[in-house]
Formats: sequence, C-alpha cells, structure tokens
Amino acid sequence: MIIVKSQREIEKIASACRIVAEILENLKSFIGADITTADIEAYVADQIKERKAIPAFKGYRGYPASSCTSVNDQVVHGIPSRTTRLKSGDIISIDLGVYKEGFYGDGAMTVPIGVVGTEVHKLISVTEEALYLGIKGAVPGNRVSDISAAIQQHVETNGFSVVRAFVGHGIGRSLHEDPQVPNYGEAGRGPRLKEGMTLAIEPMVNAGTGEVVILDDGWTAVTADGRLSAHFEHTIAVTKKGPVILTKI
Ligand code: MF3
Ligand code: CO
Repeated sequence: MIIVKSQREIEKIASACRIVAEILENLKSFIGADITTADIEAYVADQIKERKAIPAFKGYRGYPASSCTSVNDQVVHGIPSRTTRLKSGDIISIDLGVYKEGFYGDGAMTVPIGVVGTEVHKLISVTEEALYLGIKGAVPGNRVSDISAAIQQHVETNGFSVVRAFVGHGIGRSLHEDPQVPNYGEAGRGPRLKEGMTLAIEPMVNAGTGEVVILDDGWTAVTADGRLSAHFEHTIAVTKKGPVILTKI
C-alpha cells in the first residue's frame, strides 16, 4: 500500500532530509586521502547527534553503523572500518539516513578521492544524471516505471549497467515503504504516481556487468566482476508542481 502524505507530513520528511543533505555536503570537505571509513562513520554519527536526529540505518536489520561507506567495487552497504583507508584514485559512495520527529530521510552520493581517470568521472556523472532524469519522471499521472525506464535508458546509452538486486523505495514513517522503485524496466508500468507520494530514488550503476555478490559480512555488496560502481540517492516528493527534491540544501 502506498501511503500518500499531507503537506504537514511532507514538511517533517523534508526536515529529516535537510539533515541528510547538510551532512552529505559537509562530508565533501571532510573526506579525502588518508581518512578511514571509520572516520567518516564517526563524523556522520556526530553530525546526526548534533542535529538531535537518530541514525536510520544503525540497527536496521542488524546493520552496525549510521552510514554505508562503499569503496570502489563495493556497490552499497559497505560497513565503515578502521582498516579501510582512502587513497587518491579511489571512489566512495556514502549513503545515510536519519529519523527525526517520526519521519525518515535518505540520501547518497559518490565522490572521487584525489585524481581519478576520465572514465571514472563519467561513471559518477552518468549515475547522478540518471538519478535526475528519473526524478524528472516523478510527476502525478506518470507510473513508477517511468522513473525506472528513464534511469536505465541513460545508464545503458552510456555503456554502463544498472544494478537490479537493489531498488529505490517509498519513504515516510518507515525507511522502506511501497512502492519499490527499480532502476530498470519498461515505461508505463506499475502504480500511478500521485501528489503527496514520497520516494527515495537511488540508481546503483556498475562500470561492467550489473551483477553483484554479497560478502561474508552479510551486508557489503560488491560487483561480481570487480569493476567500479557508483550510487546516488535523493528523497523526493511528488507534487502538482512536479517533483521536489527534499535531500537538497
Ligand atoms: N539507502 C539504502 C536503503 O534505503 C540504505 C539502507 S542501509 C541499511 O535501502 F543498513 F539500513 F540497510
Ligand atoms: Co534508500
């Protein structure tokens, strides 16, 4: 069942999302070569606390941290670690969610560390562009798969692959609500989008094949072929004026 939100509820989701956006923005200057993913986790945990919010991921199905820090071939759900130290040439996807006054916000970004090649920049920008093209499709009267198809089309046109093992989702009083928002599929399918729906749209894009493998920690998803992967996520609201990105400052 898809839960349609009131204006008041959307404002609450927006405040949780603003926190996510601020922390992601601050992370851009915090991260760099020589810091560990555990340092990132400590920074995120601190920033969430400072804003009197609660980390959404910590304890979710036993996930052990407030952030997901996925480096290079890690697709999503990389667990922060004191032994994972960033170096120039790496890329890192940081995903974080917060809970504030009864509502969730969820967002992610991928950033390069130091110097990376043109093809790596392309993977990152195509993933972010695909997210924005998907968001553009989130208008009342469209269907969920209009978002999905726009994402898949942009990714594949550029020679990359969409990860199918994970999907975007509705969000509100729960971190994961209906509908599922796949990053692939034929346009014109699935539930119709209505004003007041709130969605977390999150393409995960691999440089090689879209196949993933889960590591023995039970969480970390890596590309099956060992090539790079990027991930961007925004929480948005479907409104009669069009999609509104809530995880943006
Ligand atoms: N953005 C991801 C999601 O919404 C992150 C979840 S991590 C978890 O599914 F630890 F909470 F599972
Ligand atoms: Co999400």
